[in-house]
Amino acid sequence: MTVLVTGGTGYIGSHTCLELLEKGWDVVAVDNLSNSSPESLRRVSELTGRPLPFFPLDLRDETALGQIFGRYAFDGVIHFAGLKAVGESVAQPLEYYGNNLQSTVSLCRAMVRAGVGRVLFSSSATVYAPGSPLPLGEDAPTGGCTSPYGWTKWMIEQILRDTAAANPGWSVALLRYFNPVGAHPSGRIGEDPRGIPNNLMPYITQVAAGRRECLTIFGGDYDTPDGTCVRDYLHVVDLARGHVAAMEYLLEHTGTETFNLGTGRGYSVREMVDAFERANGVRIPWRMGPRRPGDVAAIYANPAKSRSVLGWTAERTLEDMCRDSWNWQRQNPQGYET
Ligand code: NAD
Ligand code: WQD
Repeated sequence: MTVLVTGGTGYIGSHTCLELLEKGWDVVAVDNLSNSSPESLRRVSELTGRPLPFFPLDLRDETALGQIFGRYAFDGVIHFAGLKAVGESVAQPLEYYGNNLQSTVSLCRAMVRAGVGRVLFSSSATVYAPGSPLPLGEDAPTGGCTSPYGWTKWMIEQILRDTAAANPGWSVALLRYFNPVGAHPSGRIGEDPRGIPNNLMPYITQVAAGRRECLTIFGGDYDTPDGTCVRDYLHVVDLARGHVAAMEYLLEHTGTETFNLGTGRGYSVREMVDAFERANGVRIPWRMGPRRPGDVAAIYANPAKSRSVLGWTAERTLEDMCRDSWNWQRQNPQGYET
């Protein structure tokens, strides 16, 4: 079994490559390194003791991509590559539509030409229409996205559904991630955002490491138990293993299926800060700030379908997420450049 991983040097991609290699599958990774370092995969290879061919290329370069498909006989593809900063997508929509959509079309064309018809896609809980009752099942309404980033996920889901419908034998899983956090327990690979982190957990770990002074909590007046927003955080190792389970499912099924990858349990920002302090014995100074535009009060998954159909559940606790995030940051205070 040989799997092509696009966006392989990134945060979720690198953790997934590790789980695929541990499963005994062969992995080939591509990435344009616009938001990641090849050091992540060097470390994955070191941790697993297995080779991991990596090609630095932009997915929109159809010639270069075609050469990779010519060189290996892939049994499946996992498509992580894309730009993912919500706020940046509002300021630069064409960058996001251009990169994320063209990359996917280019990948699908290469797959059709090579006769490879099995693909997992990194979708997001952000495709769900705001205001739906919680927890969110896969059949909850989608659309009404609050950012161009979210719309790219929504559009790519449709591109893949249509491509599978037009190519009998294709099998597609649209995986809607909730909030991935944490790192491999070795502390050798983890999340390494460039610049000021947009997301909560990397901001917390950078405050703990002394790289930032204080966390600003974006809003304390939401309609939630403690007034701060509630999200479904899941450990990135559980998420990576969800991809192994979904790929095994695709080996046996054709057509398109959608799966939530989340825990089904929501935690507030205040609970996250408290859990991080408790798990690691460090203090996180914070101040209350105004709401961040586009945030919703609460969102969490109904993961029942993933459990019953894929046999997958998120097993790691909030304490594991906090401990492993800090273990990675402490060992690599400047990320992969340390
Ligand atoms: P990441 O930025 O670490 O990984 C994405 C990778 O894609 C990066 O390494 C980047 O260099 C690469 N890339 C971007 N455009 C490319 C192109 N044109 N050609 C080749 N490579 C390209 O992000 P991540 O957190 O690992 O996310 C992986 C995927 O999961 C993304 O598609 C993201 O939208 C999706 N996702 C992430 C989250 C999250 O909270 N991290 C949640 C839901 C969905
Ligand atoms: C979590 C909570 C913030 C930073 C985003 C994308 C979503 C998905 C995951 C890709 C919110 C609060 C944050 C800070 C804070 N990505 N916060 N201070 O917004 O749930 O989801 O990442 O698909 O599409 O929108 O995650 O980590 O940014 O925020 O108070 O410095 O932490 O307001 O309530 P979010 P997040």
